Amino acid sequence: MDLIIRNARVHPTFPASSEPVDVGVAGDRIAAIRPRGQITADGAMELDADGSLLSPPLVDPHVHMDAALTVGEPRYNESGTLIEGIQTWAERKRTLTIEDVKRRAREAILWEVAQGTGLIRSHVDVCDPNLTALRALLELRTELRDLVDLRLIAFPQDGILSFPDGKALMREAMRLGCDAIGGIPHYEWTREDGVEEVHYLFELARETGKPIDLHCDETDDDQSRFLEVVAADTMRNGMQGRVVAGHTTAMGSYNDAYAFKLLQILRVAGVTIVANPLDNISLQGRFDTYPKRRGMTRVKELDAAGVNVACGHDSIMDPWYPLGRGSMLDALSMLVHVGQMTGRGELFRAFRFVTCNAARAAEVEYGVKEGNPANFVVFDCRDEAEAIRLRPAARWVVRLGRLVAETEPAHSVIHAAGGDLPVGYVKEGANR
Ligand code: FE2
Repeated sequence: MDLIIRNARVHPTFPASSEPVDVGVAGDRIAAIRPRGQITADGAMELDADGSLLSPPLVDPHVHMDAALTVGEPRYNESGTLIEGIQTWAERKRTLTIEDVKRRAREAILWEVAQGTGLIRSHVDVCDPNLTALRALLELRTELRDLVDLRLIAFPQDGILSFPDGKALMREAMRLGCDAIGGIPHYEWTREDGVEEVHYLFELARETGKPIDLHCDETDDDQSRFLEVVAADTMRNGMQGRVVAGHTTAMGSYNDAYAFKLLQILRVAGVTIVANPLDNISLQGRFDTYPKRRGMTRVKELDAAGVNVACGHDSIMDPWYPLGRGSMLDALSMLVHVGQMTGRGELFRAFRFVTCNAARAAEVEYGVKEGNPANFVVFDCRDEAEAIRLRPAARWVVRLGRLVAETEPAHSVIHAAGGDLPVGYVKEGANR
């Protein structure tokens, strides 16, 4: 064995009775998963997980790496609204260069990798006649492939019908090598344009064979109803399981009767819904006084209805969201708060939103199983609920059998009168 992780608890571990195991890696594959102590061979490298959680890599299914780390350039979004974010980005976009995009995106991607993310699906704004951001990220996708699986989605930030040559730019972006087709139907000038845009995305999917991952109904307007068009087109084009809709915040404003109908057709269509709680708890509800809407899609109800739900980071210090550090566990923590998924079982279930559910849409070999690629993370915590609560260090990040990142956990001590007291943030008597 090239690498053996001893004494780890492998996700999924709910109920929390799963016994610790040893995980052996040969080359770039997981060769053996055995009860603790039953891999008798020595590994060229051995790591003692001490009962910690070993998870498949975190997945960020929705982020905008081309805009990452541009906060304050050329100015801050003082109103905090989605629209001022788009306007600020439009100003910054004029000054993009390949080197500028690569430098910022590389930095933000490394933040994500260091915290255990192994697969990133980044939208890239293609409303630019030169496609500068896309050319930069295509280069970065290759340059960073030993560290992370980066997928790129052609994203028409300013619309397809409402932007000059929008359709031609989308086609060119796909020709240059995007992995998925993006969209933004709710941002088109008219309802009819939005519907036409959705039909065009499916036309492009038929032409290119690529999956769809669009922004959809990211507004508090309860009349924004493009998700039903997406679900219907998915079924009519036989694209079940190959379509992702991000944000869908209008679902938080729909009446229950309409939302119920929508849940059923989304489930049958196999559309994945990606919630982006960091951005949307900040951006939505800005036109409300009180009561003030939370502005997140109906995560709990979608999950309960059998729809594949995932959680994205969306922004990392950009015109829409000035905060963020590339932590998928930060995003997930926000999701369980906003979506009120704090039940014991719900916390474990929610961990799937940044792991297997998020990976499903990317159509990759995924999961800690014998024979699968040796991609996993050991977190400095005991289980999934603790991962969400503590957002712990990603102790070791392994990609294709190679240790690509490691983090020393923080260590705090209180200097009390009677002597030093360690602080562990773990409930007394917990099994750690
Ligand atoms: Fe987004």
